[in-house]
Amino acid sequence: MPVRHFLSIHDLPPGAFWRLLNLSRQIKALPMAYAYALKGKALAMIFEKPSLRTRVTFEVGIQQLGGFAVYLGPQEIGLGKREAVIDVARNLSRWVHGIMARTFEHETVVELARYAAVPVINGLTDLLHPCQAMADYLTMLEHKGRLAGLRIAYVGDGNNVAHSLMFGAAQCGAHIVVATPHGYEPDRRILQMARDDARVSGAVIEVTDDPREAVTGADVVYTDTWVSMGREAEAAVRREAFAAYQVNARLMAYARPDAIFMHCLPCHRGEEVTDEVIESPRSVVYDQAENRLHVQKAIMIDLMQQPGADRA
Ligand code: CP
Ligand code: NVA
Repeated sequence: MPVRHFLSIHDLPPGAFWRLLNLSRQIKALPMAYAYALKGKALAMIFEKPSLRTRVTFEVGIQQLGGFAVYLGPQEIGLGKREAVIDVARNLSRWVHGIMARTFEHETVVELARYAAVPVINGLTDLLHPCQAMADYLTMLEHKGRLAGLRIAYVGDGNNVAHSLMFGAAQCGAHIVVATPHGYEPDRRILQMARDDARVSGAVIEVTDDPREAVTGADVVYTDTWVSMGREAEAAVRREAFAAYQVNARLMAYARPDAIFMHCLPCHRGEEVTDEVIESPRSVVYDQAENRLHVQKAIMIDLMQQPGADRA
């Protein structure tokens, strides 16, 4: 059987989304029960971009499971330049039991997975951020007690985080409305794939250019940076294009009175979100950050304990 990877929530087999969320909750409730789950196993962590949360949660997470991490930063490998992705994948497969990769092009993690004999986990690409979305749905479940029918307003850039939230909504039957300025809508292919997935769960996936319309009646208001990693040259143009999409107290007033505010972080206070909102009791941004740890431990156990995933 080919080894399983975690590249996109869209690829999860039926039942896997909830299996992972339930395992995450068990790990969070009783972490010591999993202290030897990946004893002696090594995780290579490839980063083409900077990170705080992803690096720390994977490194601490694998250690809490009895294993250890090897950090390979942007200067280390020269992925696709000093050495072809195919060779990096095959070399690492001889030494480690899993690979976590944060890359610019999504195709790079796909190629790593194609040639690796061990599981590959997507730690963010320009297209998707699936570990983030899994942690976000766990956070919504904890705060709202349900996911099906939950109304999520995503306001801002139709980026990697928006894409993975759409795929997550499709898995759990949530109703997500993505509000973006013209030209910054989610990728049309991803939108279509998420809508196709949604047929099974009854999820609703909408796109609008009106932030108020998106937020009206929302249980969750979510935003992300206007300038994702790799888009720095467009910063000035983007700040202008997104100016009307700031999540501030005025916009939050359209949401349900018990709505929560979410952000994957890092945030830019005074740009996509005001201090007032992120510091308010509605803000659950640090719960999201904590849940990255629990969810990724579940993903690592699920993948790195599978038969045939133990080459090294
Ligand atoms: N949310 C997130 O992935 O944070 P980092 O970029 O710090 O890893
Ligand atoms: N959309 C952001 C997410 C950072 C965690 C980026 O890609 O930079």
